[in-house]
Amino acid sequence: MNILILGSGGREHALAWAVKQNPKVDRLIVAPGNAGIAMLAECADIDILDGTTVVTFCAENAIDFIVVGPEAPLAAGVADATRLAGILTFGPSAAAAQLEASKAFTKDICDACGAPTAAWARFTEPAAAKAYIRARGAPIVVKANGLAAGKGVIVATTEAEALAAIDDMLSGAFGAAGAEVVIEDFMDGEEASFFILTDGTNALPLGTAQDHKRAFDGDTGPNTGGMGAYSPAPVLTDAIQAQVMADIIRPTLAEMARRGTPYQGVLYAGLMIKDGRARLIEYNARFGDPEAQVLMMRLGAQALDLMLGCAEGRLSEAQVHWADDHALTVVMAAKGYPGPYARGTVIRGLDALPEDSRHMVFHAGTAAIDGQITATGGRVLTVTARAATLAAAQSSAYEMVDAVDWPDGFCRRDIGWRAL
Ligand code: AMP
Ligand code: GLY
Repeated sequence: MNILILGSGGREHALAWAVKQNPKVDRLIVAPGNAGIAMLAECADIDILDGTTVVTFCAENAIDFIVVGPEAPLAAGVADATRLAGILTFGPSAAAAQLEASKAFTKDICDACGAPTAAWARFTEPAAAKAYIRARGAPIVVKANGLAAGKGVIVATTEAEALAAIDDMLSGAFGAAGAEVVIEDFMDGEEASFFILTDGTNALPLGTAQDHKRAFDGDTGPNTGGMGAYSPAPVLTDAIQAQVMADIIRPTLAEMARRGTPYQGVLYAGLMIKDGRARLIEYNARFGDPEAQVLMMRLGAQALDLMLGCAEGRLSEAQVHWADDHALTVVMAAKGYPGPYARGTVIRGLDALPEDSRHMVFHAGTAAIDGQITATGGRVLTVTARAATLAAAQSSAYEMVDAVDWPDGFCRRDIGWRAL
């Protein structure tokens, strides 16, 4: 098969790495890709937000199967365009991807199907939003309704902070994404991520992970896209996973199908767990980044068969074969991230690192310039290891981190602490 993966992050490097191991693959192209991906696949610099461009590229390259990595092309309807053109596609339609692209949409779905989540309300008018905040009190959570690259959520510990967030969002700080806000009750507990695959009818639990969203050790500092992750997440016990499937996932998928917009692809549920029960924080319509890195390292070549099962509507036959192991990934970011940071700094030492089924440095924001790997983004490398125990995966990952020579980068030193 000729396979096209859309995206350029550590998630797409991990997807490409796993897919490439499957003997079904003849040709693997990633668009646009990055310097790490270029070591194992062809890269193509096309506009992945434009459905027509992607369809034309697929025709020219005889693509049999396309995997959409990030949310932006999904929300832009790229999976609709490729499916309409008859190309086998992994990823939800734009209508179904609203589960990520609109927080109010997801809340409506939860209300319609009875999925447990925080009490909420939606507003476009600052006065009404502020009155609601004053009535509910703090702590309270204010969210831009639309896609805001992970930055549109303010967990306000005081009423003043929540009121300021309303002024910010409704005055245009997040553009169209913030023209409407969702305000919801604060949920306390432990957060974890649950990934399921679905072909629209059947749902297959894929795996669990936990990520570290804050920039600095001890879960302090500003929120980021994720500074590290590990899988499995011990807090998501079998019993809680069963509750999540019964109370949240299956009702959501049934409601989506009932509305005529069945969801196909990976559904990522962000959960808050307390007293042995999970409530939904949010959905994402894609794999997490860096959660995909730990999932792919544990899944390997079967990732392709599972994604094909989704796209071909035969997930009922599929099974996930898990080894009894653990994976952990450490994100190396440019100093200054998530604030301003330098680009174009040189990274050395990567050649000396092992690359096998237990060790991989997945690239996020890199480019090869004059034969040198240079940093081009905020999150730059995701250093990933797999081992029999989480503690062993952690030491293996940090051993690799310590061999990377990149004075302009930083990472957290405590990824995995919650589970250890
Ligand atoms: P989201 O983009 O909706 O996942 O929100 C980003 C982060 O904000 C989540 O990962 C949580 O840590 C936090 N968060 C969002 N909603 C709530 C809530 N209702 N209660 C507590 N924390 C929340
Ligand atoms: N790591 C969080 C996310 O991918 O949304």
